[in-house]
Amino acid sequence: MVRSDLKMSDVTQANKLAWNASAPHHKNSKEWQRLVEGFATPGFSTFDETLTACLKDVGIEGRSVVQVCCNNGREVLSLRSHGVTRALGLDQSQAFIAQAEELNQIAKTDFEFLCADVYDLPSNLAQQFDIALITIGVLNWMPDLPRFFEVVAGLLAPGGHLVIYETHPILDMFEPTSDKPFEVANSYFRKDPYVDTAAIVYEGEQVDAVSESYWFPHTIGDVLNGCIAAGLQIAQFKEYPHSNREVEYDIYDGHNQQVPMCFTLIGRKI
Ligand SMILES: C[S@@+](CC[C@H](N)C(=O)[O-])C[C@H]1O[C@@H](n2cnc3c(N)ncnc32)[C@H](O)[C@@H]1O
Repeated sequence: MVRSDLKMSDVTQANKLAWNASAPHHKNSKEWQRLVEGFATPGFSTFDETLTACLKDVGIEGRSVVQVCCNNGREVLSLRSHGVTRALGLDQSQAFIAQAEELNQIAKTDFEFLCADVYDLPSNLAQQFDIALITIGVLNWMPDLPRFFEVVAGLLAPGGHLVIYETHPILDMFEPTSDKPFEVANSYFRKDPYVDTAAIVYEGEQVDAVSESYWFPHTIGDVLNGCIAAGLQIAQFKEYPHSNREVEYDIYDGHNQQVPMCFTLIGRKI
């Protein structure tokens, strides 16, 4: 549920504007150059060990995959080198979908990209995929998590799998760039969204502010219960000590008293 004074469509529209405005910063980066050079070479993949192992557990070779909120398509295009035969990337930011199409020209795959709000997808996508993939930094843009999982489960054929590789919600209890980054700053159970006007970048660059965006905290329980309510059986759930977040969160990595920093989940559509 969205906070009572916020309309769901206003939130998704605001987030879309903020992501579109941030897209040029992502293109003007070393990471973009790495992707351009990488996808020109067969076998290139951006997946780390954790995601690779999780996808191996599910078995993705020869499968059809939909990535929900695919951003610039780097992961959709990486699927090619892991044996995926059909893939679709969805994202509501036309600026990032344009970047994905550009990388696809370089990678020369027949994978597809679609610009669409996940809460308003075309009906012809229903039950079309063996695997739905959700990675780093997607769940918290979702104002209505139960509805989001219903939509994602609806994309899967019966027996299909949802694979999530996400940041751990416990990290939202800390403010890594504050004076006291190791003090608990926010409740794990906070419901109100974090509202930000900073451009959405990953590497800590100083860039101009953009319009407001809304980041919705969800607990691990919210994630598990959202999947279960959407008819997904939890087949695997793992937490990890390493960071898959923006660089400022690296300060929480590598401690003896370690907080969980990310998680994977595999769900099977019953
Ligand atoms: C952090 S990015 C995902 C990055 C991706 N996991 C990766 O590692 O390359 C989050 C994406 O979610 C998209 N998004 C947010 N709300 C959405 C919605 N309602 N429908 C579709 N896409 C949405 C944004 O446009 C953005 O590209």
